[in-house]
This record gives sequence, C-alpha cells and structure tokens, in this order.
Amino acid sequence: MTERMHLNLFTMNSVEHVSPGRWTYPGDQSHRYTDRDYWTEVARTAERGGFDAVFFADVRGIYDVYGGNRDSAIRNAIQTPANDPQALVPAMAEVTEHLGFAVTRSTTYTHPYQLARELSTLDHLTDGRIAFNIVTSYLESAAENLGLDERMDRQTRYDRADEFMDVCYALWEDSWEEDAVVQDRERGMYADPEKVHAIDYEGEFFSVPGPHSCEPSPQRTPVLYQAGSSDRGRDFAADNAEAVFVSQPTEAGTRSYIEDMRERAADRGRDPDSLLFFPGIVPIVGETEKLAREKHESFREHVSTEGTLTMLSGFLDMDLSQLDPDQNVEHIETDAIQGAMNAFTKNDPDREWTVREVAEFSGLGSTSPVVVGTPEQVADKLQYWFEEVGVHGFNVKEISRPGTLNDFVNLVVPILRERDLVREAYEGETLRENVLGAGQRRLRDDHPAKQ
Ligand SMILES: Cc1cc2nc3c(=O)[nH]c(=O)nc-3n(C[C@H](O)[C@H](O)[C@H](O)COP(=O)(O)O)c2cc1C
Repeated sequence: MTERMHLNLFTMNSVEHVSPGRWTYPGDQSHRYTDRDYWTEVARTAERGGFDAVFFADVRGIYDVYGGNRDSAIRNAIQTPANDPQALVPAMAEVTEHLGFAVTRSTTYTHPYQLARELSTLDHLTDGRIAFNIVTSYLESAAENLGLDERMDRQTRYDRADEFMDVCYALWEDSWEEDAVVQDRERGMYADPEKVHAIDYEGEFFSVPGPHSCEPSPQRTPVLYQAGSSDRGRDFAADNAEAVFVSQPTEAGTRSYIEDMRERAADRGRDPDSLLFFPGIVPIVGETEKLAREKHESFREHVSTEGTLTMLSGFLDMDLSQLDPDQNVEHIETDAIQGAMNAFTKNDPDREWTVREVAEFSGLGSTSPVVVGTPEQVADKLQYWFEEVGVHGFNVKEISRPGTLNDFVNLVVPILRERDLVREAYEGETLRENVLGAGQRRLRDDHPAKQ
C-alpha cells in the first residue's frame, strides 16, 4: 500500500467532458479549452495541490447515437469539439516540474510503432512525466472516420490491443540496451549498433521489425493507466495497468471491482498490492455545509438532461431517447462501454436504476460518486475511501472549470495535508516514482511486460 493519496485531475481538451451543461454555469471557463493560458494555469494549480497527473480523456468520433443523429452532441458540445490532448503536454510541462500527464490513446485507431515514438518523445521532453491511458474506443462514428467500415467488436478490439501492447513493450523495453548510446565523438559513434535490436514482431494485426526509433526515455515504458471494466477489459487491465481508473457509482461496486482485479493481477504473477486503484470523485465544496448544498443544487439546475442522455447513449451504444424515462435500465451486452452498462445493472445487485435516475446521476461526472460538504467533510469522505475501501487515490472530476480544481486545491488539499494524506513535496523525479514510490523509474519486474 502507498502511504499517501494519489490525486489526478480528470479532464478533456474540449468544452464538455462528463458533466453536460457545465459550460452554461455562470463564470464557467470550459469554452477556454482552446486557450493555452487556461491549461498552463490548470497545470500550475494541480502541481500546487500535489497531484500526480492531469489525466486527459480523449475520444475519436461523435456522439450520434441519441435520436439517431449528431444534433444534440453538437448543440450541447458533448465531447465535440475536442482538440488533441497530447499537444497540450509541452506547454503544461514547461510551467511545472513534477506534474505528470496521462494521455488517452486508442489502440484501435493508432499504430503501435507510431504511438511508441510519440510517447517516447514526450517522455524525453518532460523528463519522464508521461502516462499512457490505454483505451480501445467505443464510438461507431470513430471507426467510420478512421478508415474502417464499422467498429470492430469488443473481442477483436482487445485482441488487437493485446498485440499492440506487445509491440510497444518490445520497442520500449527490449530494442535499445541501456548502454546503447555511447556518444563517443572520437570513434564517431553515437550509438552502438550491436546494442540496438530489431524486435521482429509478426502477429495477426501488426508486423513490426523495429528497432524503436527513439533512444530510451527516462521511464522507457510510460506509466500505464487503464479503465476497461468488462470481463475482457479487466483481464486487459490486469495484464497491463499499473493503475486502474475505477468507474463504479457505489462503494459496494468499487469494493467488488478491486477484489476481482487483485485476484486477476495475482493470477498473472503480479503483486496485487502493486496495482493501484483510482476511482473518480466529484467534489462539491463550500465553506459551510449550507453553501456546499446550495452549490450542488445550482450545479444540478445547469445539468443538461439532453446532453447527459446523448453522452450515455454513446457510452452504451443504445438510443436512450427511445426509452420511457421511468423504466428501469435493463442489462444489455453492448459493443461500446460494457463497463458503463454494468455499473448500473450488474455491479451492485441491491440497486436498480431508472433511465431518469441514471441521467440525473450521470449529469454530474457520469458514473462517479458526488461528495458534497465542507472541506473537512469532503476530506473525511476521501479519507474513509482511502483507508477503509482500499483505493489509492482519486480522479477529481470537474463540474465547473476551473472552479472544481481550484476549490479542491485551495480548500480540501490543505486539510488532507494536515492529516498527512497528501504530499507536501514530490518524492521522485519521474511520474512512475511519484505513483509507485521513489526509485521506481521503470516498470516493476513482476509486470507482465517484463516476463
Ligand atoms: C473512467 C473511464 C475513463 C475512460 N476514458 C476513456 C477515454 O478517454 N477515451 C476512450 O476512448 N475510452 C475511454 N474509456 C473507455 C474504456 O477505456 C474502454 O475502451 C471501454 O470501457 C470499453 O471497454 P469495457 O467494455 O471493457 O469497459 C474510459 C472508461 C472509463 C471507465
């Protein structure tokens, strides 16, 4: 177990992310996502709060399932428009020293040789502060835009993702020996060809001879985050993730998810305690409880129900405009985000949800618990989850920008620091050291990539 909480800001290089309607809130600055100054300020604030990383979600495609067209997605800015998150990293790294950057990249729509190069480059430029949030993507419209006739089914996406990661590991870990770069001016030898190896990967989806085009970056393999939560997604996370983003709306669901994931990690010869769990959390903080409740109410009034149903219809690949708001959500097997479906239908057998309830709940941060209260009350809740439920930290989800982050860092972090639950200073130089502990610059030896 790590001793202190890990904090990530969960955000997106777009107007809306997972709180539809947010941009209409008075004073909200979500529309400034195209402004570099907005993001550098976010980076400074997150580092001031001792956050491990800013975690950028990203999707390809448009949310056109609701009502069978894209009108609501465009009207409500549901993750469209969205700029490329990776391009923000150099600017945000420039104004910080320790903060990490987790970028979401899809194994379905990129090539591993290309992606390995991009992330190695960023890891060099940030002195080892990069994480890769591995996703397989879910929107049909992305497939159509990116050269496929239709979305690959989930199993094929994960088959491809397995191979994708094998290629990346071979490039990052095995291609360049540690002492391959000699920079010997007298002999005119920059790198020793004997120590730079082909990977000769031949698979069903990829054929990559290598070698990797980049010399080893500080972390070699970036820190690996994953969030898949279907059965196959969990296996994939147990094979690859160093930290898992938990997306369960209830404590019971979170507990059973963690238990299950630890078992899967142990089955693969990994130390289950080395796998970290970060649930999303939506903090709403006020100086008094009354103020916090008023804030909560006012945020709720600004939730866009249509926008939320549009987002969820994309997650589930199910047109929620066709359902009666008061009918219970029935379980279906979907080729989109099965985990989001399961969160409401399977993971907590004691709870049933109507369409309306799911929409109301999900409008403030999708499938994560909302915590409302004074700074002390919010800190108490996080401490409870950290000490009793067994999570290692939190993804702070924003329902106002930059208000959620500012309130959290200015009001809650000082209390968590008084309780020695959040770092005063960063322990390590690289992101992996700050996530897994000082000295852990590289993948652990029990990670499947090393076996
Ligand atoms: C907390 C969380 C964050 C996610 N972020 C993204 C994202 O930014 N982009 C994306 O394409 N998929 C994202 N996903 C989707 C998953 O990575 C995965 O592709 C999807 O859940 C389908 O797999 P599953 O059915 O195993 O859950 C996210 C899922 C969760 C639970």
